[in-house]
Amino acid sequence: MSEPTARVLSGIQPTGDVHLGNYFGAIQNHLALQDRYPGECYYFVADYHALTTVHDAKALRQSVRDIAITYLALGLDPARACLFRQSDVPEVTELTWLLACATGRGLLERAHAYKDKAAHGLPASMGLFCYPILMAADILAYDASLVPVGQDQLQHVEMAQDMATHFNETFGAGAVVLRRPEPLMSKAPRVVGLDGEKMSKSYQNTIGLFLEGKALRKLTSRIVTDSTPLGQPLPTEGDRVLALLDLFLDERGREQVRGWYRTGARDGQPFGYGHAKALLAEHIETHFADARARRQHLIDHPEEVDRVLAEGGRTARARAIDTIERCRSTCGLR
Ligand code: TYM
Repeated sequence: MSEPTARVLSGIQPTGDVHLGNYFGAIQNHLALQDRYPGECYYFVADYHALTTVHDAKALRQSVRDIAITYLALGLDPARACLFRQSDVPEVTELTWLLACATGRGLLERAHAYKDKAAHGLPASMGLFCYPILMAADILAYDASLVPVGQDQLQHVEMAQDMATHFNETFGAGAVVLRRPEPLMSKAPRVVGLDGEKMSKSYQNTIGLFLEGKALRKLTSRIVTDSTPLGQPLPTEGDRVLALLDLFLDERGREQVRGWYRTGARDGQPFGYGHAKALLAEHIETHFADARARRQHLIDHPEEVDRVLAEGGRTARARAIDTIERCRSTCGLR
């Protein structure tokens, strides 16, 4: 083990448009951490993981670039944070095997994400079953100490902690060969979707960051509410529109909107769910307006994005090679 300094690592799957859950649950934190730990942040697009569900090479490549564009548009600064493609570091797949040899099957059988996906009828390949080992390898390969994620990934980070310990005990006689990572949650670790379930690409209940105009309004109008008529007091507990609005508001704004909910009126006019949904659409449009403009620039200049990814891949790979060499030597390989 070399680096005692904090090192941040996180990933996102290229399986569709980045949504409000990704942003408020994880990405906002990723961007804040590049200010706090410049040069020590590693963020990647998890294309190996995506193979558990995406089986279209062209779509996958496009999706990887789209995610990178989104990060850069939102403010990731390649001078302070390393942005890369997971598959540019093939060493993580070797580390996956080494970890698998020190990991009990029971640990994987307890994974919520696997059970949840299987319960939603998604085909359960061995890749999906072993997903947490690859994720542990991602984290451990870079000696990460902090892993900023949403609540749905918490168990996976805890599994990575277990796997690091098992590896150290099984092959290293207890020496710290792999560093123990800690999860880091945002203020919104579980953002709800249109239907009140966790917002998730797999449940088709997401709101994308860059939607605008009619399409955005149409989507926010689909948020499921009760049938309180216009002008009547609206419940503030458990309301999905309010939960999403809260993401964009400070304390004062939250109190103000709750006032409109409680009275069913705003500035003397009736206030109902339709108004709340339109307000949410407005906030989304405004909040991401600058990023939307930067995104368009990057879409028009894909070579800038590819350059960042290629450079990030080289930096990340050098880190991972150090770790894998240490692990090989610990296991008695070569
Ligand atoms: P993914 O692509 O599903 O999500 C990316 C990040 O967004 C967070 N997130 C949410 N947070 C709050 N509310 C929500 N509704 C919501 N939906 C998603 C996720 O928790 C995540 O932080 N397995 C990971 C990718 C991965 C990874 C890693 C992450 C691969 N290796 C190593 C960290 C470290 C995933 O599928 O995230």
